[in-house]
Amino acid sequence: MHYQFANRINQLQGSPLRENAKRNMEAKDVISFAYGYPSIDAFPMETLKTISERMYTEFDPESFLQYGASEGLPELRELVKQRIAKQSAIASDDDLMIVSGSTQAMDLVIKVLCNEGDVVLCEEQTFSGAVNAIKGYGAKAVPVPMNVDEECIDTKVLEELLAKDTEHRIKLLYLIPTFQNPLGTSIPLEKRQEIYAIAKKYGLLIFEDDPYGDLLYFGDAIPKMKSFDTDDLIIYAGSFSKILAPSTRLGFVMAPPAIFEKLVLAKQVSDSHTNFYWQVLLTEFMKNYDFEQHVSYLKELYREKLTVMLEELAKLPQDAIHYIEPTGGYFICCELAEDVDEEAFLDYLFDHKVIVIPGNIMSVAGKGYEKFFRLNFTKPTIEDIRLGIQQMQDAISFARVEQVSKAI
Ligand SMILES: Cc1ncc(COP(=O)(O)O)c(C=O)c1O
Repeated sequence: MHYQFANRINQLQGSPLRENAKRNMEAKDVISFAYGYPSIDAFPMETLKTISERMYTEFDPESFLQYGASEGLPELRELVKQRIAKQSAIASDDDLMIVSGSTQAMDLVIKVLCNEGDVVLCEEQTFSGAVNAIKGYGAKAVPVPMNVDEECIDTKVLEELLAKDTEHRIKLLYLIPTFQNPLGTSIPLEKRQEIYAIAKKYGLLIFEDDPYGDLLYFGDAIPKMKSFDTDDLIIYAGSFSKILAPSTRLGFVMAPPAIFEKLVLAKQVSDSHTNFYWQVLLTEFMKNYDFEQHVSYLKELYREKLTVMLEELAKLPQDAIHYIEPTGGYFICCELAEDVDEEAFLDYLFDHKVIVIPGNIMSVAGKGYEKFFRLNFTKPTIEDIRLGIQQMQDAISFARVEQVSKAI
């Protein structure tokens, strides 16, 4: 049988990350810096077990086994709103919906805003799930050049693109302003304000994707872009994947009222509502247990891992590798020097059972980032971080020789 699939699905590529994940799960002796996974020490097993047992013995089963509202559990929505407001003043009084991971927030937003052929601007290297959501509705993901050392997109190019867009094809700017995936960078406050001012001038909507915002290890938090959204231009999304457990699929989206209404409609069609078992469990965790203490524990755990990774990276020849030291999140992104052959470097690591993510996988254009690779520091153990980064010493020497021998 020859099946005729819709264009929207033919345009999508399976996530190379997930395909690799399946293979690497089976290989036990691999040191993987590849995936954006939490550490297994990060799951609050005792609290989850206690609440779960209480739910089955003390709670009304209707509260977590029945169908429920598409917007999510009112108490949880309120708790999440209060938590965001505590972290960073929020200028608007937008409503908040619980969604099935922030991946769904992006999917719903594109579904609601974009027709085929519309444009969503993105950072040049970004979360591949967002790019797939854009392509899945026949819209175009267009990269805005990044100035990695300034930790920001090129705002001049952004403004030029908007000024030229007389037909208003640009529907959205997708940004990960805090602890970016894959770059680990955070847009400085002045640049956030500058981007917001440009958005205001051109009536541009911004999707602020913030799944890592809680995980600040060094320095001060930078206010969320949503905190200066006086003009209803920002859709803000967050997630409990990185601070509770990804399998809960608990995320949230906050949007100006007119957009919110459409998002609820789209959510109804998509999956009716997010899993109430986890919504009730998280509500209980946030209300009657110390959720913030759990997040503080995660910050300690990951701060140590980041510190060790940076210590080990500092021992590598610094003329061979360039990276920005992140102050939070899950990732460090490295760039190899011109004289280090990237293929030889990655092959050497792979042959020595160390896995990283090559830059082009995260590149919206699928090219141009050959010299980059992403390292995750939350999932591997401290010992593996040391051993894995130490392998890069020899990988660099090997790749430098390869580069020279190619030229002979
Ligand atoms: C920037 C970004 N947004 C969203 C997600 C997905 O989060 P969720 O598990 O809530 O769907 C990820 C996950 O890796 C991410 O890096």
